Formats: sequence, structure tokens, C-alpha cells
Amino acid sequence: MDTVQEFRRKREEAGAYIRSKTDFKPEYLLILGTGLGQLAEEIDEVITINYDEIPHFPVSTVESHAGKLIFGELGGKPVVAMQGRFHYYEGYTMQQIVFPLRVAKSLGAQTLIVSNACGGLNPNFRRGDIMLINDHINFLADNPLIGPNDDELGPRFPDMSEPYTARLVETAENVALELGIKMHEGVYLAVSGPMMETKAEYRYMRNLGADVVGMSTVPEVIAAVHMGMDVLGISVITDECFPDSLMPVELEDVLAAAAMAEPKMTQVIIGVLEKL
Ligand code: HPA
Repeated sequence: MDTVQEFRRKREEAGAYIRSKTDFKPEYLLILGTGLGQLAEEIDEVITINYDEIPHFPVSTVESHAGKLIFGELGGKPVVAMQGRFHYYEGYTMQQIVFPLRVAKSLGAQTLIVSNACGGLNPNFRRGDIMLINDHINFLADNPLIGPNDDELGPRFPDMSEPYTARLVETAENVALELGIKMHEGVYLAVSGPMMETKAEYRYMRNLGADVVGMSTVPEVIAAVHMGMDVLGISVITDECFPDSLMPVELEDVLAAAAMAEPKMTQVIIGVLEKL
């Protein structure tokens, strides 16, 4: 395993490469989930940098993820969007998954806005709905803070009493209300995947208190909280995971539902940025 110094050097080299291309200072990092890359089209773009150009950046393996950093303005705010993210099921280490986030923080990003596609466990949720994440359960059996702690990034034992910033949750609720967009609020449970869950697993997760289940987001949120960043998380419900009426689900169905819900998510995120 790399030492704290090795990781620091890699982040610095990646940051320096990006700095050699642009002096744009993003305040917000957007991580766009599966099938949710369209938001990037709304960015008044300054520069785009492909992941494969940047030293030490992991490269996306999933076709539904593009693999580039887009710097520019959105809702009047300086943002950098990760179009394409890294999942644990692809075989990346937790350190690789959060590497771009840590680099973005070093470039100035103080707030993480993260989106994902997920399965709905709460019986009131429907495919194509969106949900604001107000808490999470980590079922990944791993996390990016395991290993030597880099005290320059954050504390050894970070607090997790409010991983999703209450002020941002409230702002997003108000934006959705003003725009007349129905948005749920609830708990995201992260699993490794890549398989979908069994009926027994969905029943179990619902009983544990989760409203949705997905294969991402929690590693990035943990690393963001560790670094003292504010976090806003939005989930798009792409399939209904009700154990007593469970239907088989295909990637095309997930992507179609994501496309259906995406405009709502985009409007909420832009609305929040405009208000901040
Ligand atoms: N389970 C886990 N991850 C998912 C699901 C699901 O049902 N749907 C979309 N991502």
C-alpha cells in the first residue's frame, strides 16, 4: 500500500497537471451518476480534461460513464463536474475511487454535490422519482479512510453525525417546492454490487431503515466529510425493489429511468447553486 507521502505526491502531480491547463478555481464538485451525465451539458464550460490525461487518475470502465472533468459555471457558480465516476465493483480500490475528489478539494472545491441511480426500497417511491439523501448506511465492508491517516486531509476519527449538510438539504427542499418538483428524502444504503439484490436482501435492507440502495456515493461522501466539505446528495430511483412484487431489472431500464428523472435532478441542482 502507498504511504501517506506517496498519496500526497500523486495528488499533487494530478493537481499540478490540471493547474498547468487552467487556473479556474472550482468551489463545487459535481459527481454525476449512472445515466446522469446530461447535467454537464448545462455547464458554461471553460475547459474539459479527460481522465486519461491526468497523472494517477483512474479511468472509467463502464460505458454509461464518460470519464472527463468539466470546469465551468453552473447556476452562476464555479464548478467542476466529474462526468463518469468509479465504482467499487469495477475493481478500483477505495483510494482510487476518492482520488479525483481529493484532487478537486486541493483545487478549491469546498462542496460536493453527488448524484446516483439507485433502487427504491421505500414503498412510497416510484421508478423515475428523485430523493434527497439525508443519511446513509455503509454496507460496502470497506471505506477510503482505512489505512494510515493523512492529517493534512482530515482527522483520524471523523464525525458522521451530519454527513449531508442540513443547510443544503433545506435549500434543496425549498428549491424543489418552488419548482413544483416532487422529491422524497431518505436514507441511502451502499452495497458493492455488481449484482442487484435478492428479495430477502431488499426486505432486510428496508427493515434496517434504508429508503434506497445503490452501488456508489458513500465512499465519496465519507472522504468529503473527512476533509470538512459540505455535501448534497441526490438519488434517482431507477427501479422498484419491493420484495413481494419484484421484477427482473436490466441496465437499459435503469438508464431509461435515469433519463426520465434527470431533468428534475438537474433543475434542483441548478436551483440550489443559484441560491447559495
Ligand atoms: N440495487 C443496487 N443498486 C442499484 C439498484 C438496485 O436495485 N438500482 C440501481 N442501482
